[in-house]
Amino acid sequence: MSNNILKHLAIIMDGNGRWAKERGLIRTKGHEKGADTIRDITQYCAEHETIETVTLYAFSTENWKRPKYEVDFLMRLLDRWLKQELKTYHRFGAKFETVGNIEGFSPKLQETIASIKAQTAHHTNVTQILALNYGSREEIAKAASRLAKRGEEITEDSLGSELNTPYRDIDLLVRTSGEQRLSNFLLWQLSYSEFFFTPTLWPDFTPKELDRIIHQYINRDRRFGGL
Ligand code: IPE
Ligand code: IPE
Ligand code: MG
Repeated sequence: MSNNILKHLAIIMDGNGRWAKERGLIRTKGHEKGADTIRDITQYCAEHETIETVTLYAFSTENWKRPKYEVDFLMRLLDRWLKQELKTYHRFGAKFETVGNIEGFSPKLQETIASIKAQTAHHTNVTQILALNYGSREEIAKAASRLAKRGEEITEDSLGSELNTPYRDIDLLVRTSGEQRLSNFLLWQLSYSEFFFTPTLWPDFTPKELDRIIHQYINRDRRFGGL
């Protein structure tokens, strides 16, 4: 029986639109409900004994293709939500970080992001990384380009630590909503992760379901190429 430790959890939070559609609501209602799920999951992670980092895919570089109305709504929701969540970050002892090109956002939203990061930087129970305007191919290409410009050799170690998410390899990836693809998320960091796909739509996802998934993860046989 294995006993895998879970330090870094990553989640592709998918299915907000379908959750709303099933209820005859506009898609944005699903995003609002999905934001509440983030709070519950962050609390679970903060209270979990071994989880140090939870990385959540919130907006991809491909999501700009959506109708302007939805993109604008997501930007406003993020701004409002972060300001309102500050007390939650304090309550759970959670540190807020981001990965992705936040320079692509409005100056006002960038300011909010910077302010919440600064005010939660001292927390140590868990680090919540929101992937915002994130694309993995872009992250890898830009890291390689920076190394090349500095005339440095490109190796697994140098490229790995030049990434914007150099931290830690991901132990477990969960994607909600039944889709079974990566959608350009953390290709490098997921090289040896365990994957778990659940049909549950993100707004319906609960700490209880996450807990069940983690129990399965703990018992999986991670061999890393060995025997
Ligand atoms: C995930 O839910 C949230 C974002 C990508 C911002 P979706 O909006 O992708 O919901 P579905 O996949 O259309 O149901
Ligand atoms: C992936 O979900 C991105 C996020 C969850 C932020 P999408 O709904 O955008 O992905 P596809 O279009 O199904 O691949
Ligand atoms: Mg989707």
